[in-house]
Amino acid sequence: MQSRKNFDSESILWDADNTRVRLALSVAQAMLDAGIPHEADALDFGCGTGLLTLALQPHVKSISGVDSSTGMLEQLKEKISVNHIENVTAAFVDFENGSPVEGNYDLVVSSMTAHHIPDTLALLREWHRVLRPGGKLCFADLDKEDGSFHGDNTGVFHQGFDRENLRMLCEQAGFDEIRDTTATTVVKEVEGVKRAFPIFLICAKKP
Ligand SMILES: C[S@@+](CC[C@H](N)C(=O)[O-])C[C@H]1O[C@@H](n2cnc3c(N)ncnc32)[C@H](O)[C@@H]1O
Repeated sequence: MQSRKNFDSESILWDADNTRVRLALSVAQAMLDAGIPHEADALDFGCGTGLLTLALQPHVKSISGVDSSTGMLEQLKEKISVNHIENVTAAFVDFENGSPVEGNYDLVVSSMTAHHIPDTLALLREWHRVLRPGGKLCFADLDKEDGSFHGDNTGVFHQGFDRENLRMLCEQAGFDEIRDTTATTVVKEVEGVKRAFPIFLICAKKP
């Protein structure tokens, strides 16, 4: 199996890429437009430096950012500390390697992380496990693409996703009320040509 990507080495300069920042903010807005539970305890899975976590923070009761990169988590912890943010926490999680998510939540969100995790059904089951009954899942990622989004595809286990297939996997994991929309479109230059990469948002409910 191919190796995972080392996000620690990218963590310091992660937020310097405006495309990433804009993408996270657009995804947050799409999640808010789709509707998030009132007064939610939320989990941001694969939170990175907390771009999505902190965009949603004013709209939830609490939000825990979890990630398998300690470098990424350090960036988020620094932001929490400098800005004296009281309803955000950051914690290490790597459910594939024996450190699962702790706690239970009303809302699970995730952006651009699912394509880095080999077993999508196992990931959806993990999100289902930590949601309280009636809780909501909202996750965003790339629609199926030809591998040119990343350039270096180390640690990219899925070159985007087919929405219909994901909807079926969500159902298999136990979710209902599954809806998909396009959260935003990232325009990137690939080999001198501008290319559009749509980003889906799937929201679903744990019955
Ligand atoms: C492309 S980044 C997205 C980060 C953030 N959501 C954003 O939009 O800026 C993917 C993140 O998923 C994390 N990740 C990858 N595999 C993971 C796993 N098995 N468990 C938890 N986090 C993981 C990486 O460390 C990285 O921070």
